[in-house]
Amino acid sequence: MPVPLLDLKAQHAHIRSDVVPALMQVVEDQLFILGSTVERLEAAVAELSHTRFAIGCASGTDALLLALRALDIGRGDEVVTTPFTFFATAGTVHNVGATPVFADIDPATFNLSTAHAAAVCTPRTRAVIPVDLFGQMARMEELAAVLPNLPIIEDAAQTIGARRRIGGEWVMAGESATIGTLSFFPSKNLGGYGDGGMMVTQDEALATRLRRLRVHGGATQYLHDEVGYNSRLDALQAAVLSAKLPHLADWSRLRREHAAYYDRAFADVPEVRTPTIDAGNESIYNQYTLRADRRDDLQSHLKRDGIGSAVYYPLPLHLQPCFAYLGYRQGSCPESERAAREVISIPVFPELTRAQQDEVIGSVRVFYGH
Ligand SMILES: Cc1ncc(COP(=O)(O)O)c(C=O)c1O
Repeated sequence: MPVPLLDLKAQHAHIRSDVVPALMQVVEDQLFILGSTVERLEAAVAELSHTRFAIGCASGTDALLLALRALDIGRGDEVVTTPFTFFATAGTVHNVGATPVFADIDPATFNLSTAHAAAVCTPRTRAVIPVDLFGQMARMEELAAVLPNLPIIEDAAQTIGARRRIGGEWVMAGESATIGTLSFFPSKNLGGYGDGGMMVTQDEALATRLRRLRVHGGATQYLHDEVGYNSRLDALQAAVLSAKLPHLADWSRLRREHAAYYDRAFADVPEVRTPTIDAGNESIYNQYTLRADRRDDLQSHLKRDGIGSAVYYPLPLHLQPCFAYLGYRQGSCPESERAAREVISIPVFPELTRAQQDEVIGSVRVFYGH
């Protein structure tokens, strides 16, 4: 039985009766850019994220870009981040004219190591971007304690609705950051039917600036206080996302159940190491990512069995050709490099059936001769 890495058609089949009328309402209204449909979603995401403000934009990439601009980060500035992430995390730092400075990951969680981040800070460091990778939050409280005067942009593209127990309280992804950034790329736990993103913050002045930056830098039409961007969330995406949002908690719970089932099934397979979830974290498992011996051979074997998998991410950002000018070498961030050699993500989408999961488990076990 073929098992895809993600089955968006199965999800759409479940929610068609919610999504299609919501889309048609926007078509009837003929109000496609920002407006009340987007504002409703912004209010709902702010509530979920426990933040005072949420500002929609065109993508998770733009959310990072606008966040950097709102913090006045540009030429001559350094921004510390992880190299084991999607390209946008560092690409946007480069695109505002600043320099990405890479610090290695904690091998247990794949998230930015606080000690390594602190070690690479200089007087030019203007912000840190921890990434909540694969669905679990970074150690936000540790970063804030060790780097108390540094703005934190939390790249929460993969963690909408994830939470972490900090000092006895649940803290949501994005809640404790200076600015948290979300992506609604279709493969995210809350995915649109196209691109979309959002920024969340507790800071009113930053929220005002972000709202201005997404519409060419002008709060009043045809009057521009600064040069911004065209980065608006469109109403069709907002309608889809608002229809999907009530399902998000259930979907993330199902992902956690699938993850627990895999964890148990692979406990006696020493050739694969199941994901570690940091104490206090509730992951939303945007990915279920193993470390595997002979990873590339395993991936070919899964493919022959019709099982979808992906390597997130095969080349850490400090070794990307476009960042050669930064002078990093093989060995600069050894844990990120090791992770890039070992990781493989396998199907964990909510609609995955037990029979499909057993198929994946059986294929992995056969590959290692168990
Ligand atoms: C960690 C991370 N950051 C940023 C992004 C960029 O988001 P988008 O694709 O919506 O631009 C993504 C998703 O693709 C991501 O996974």
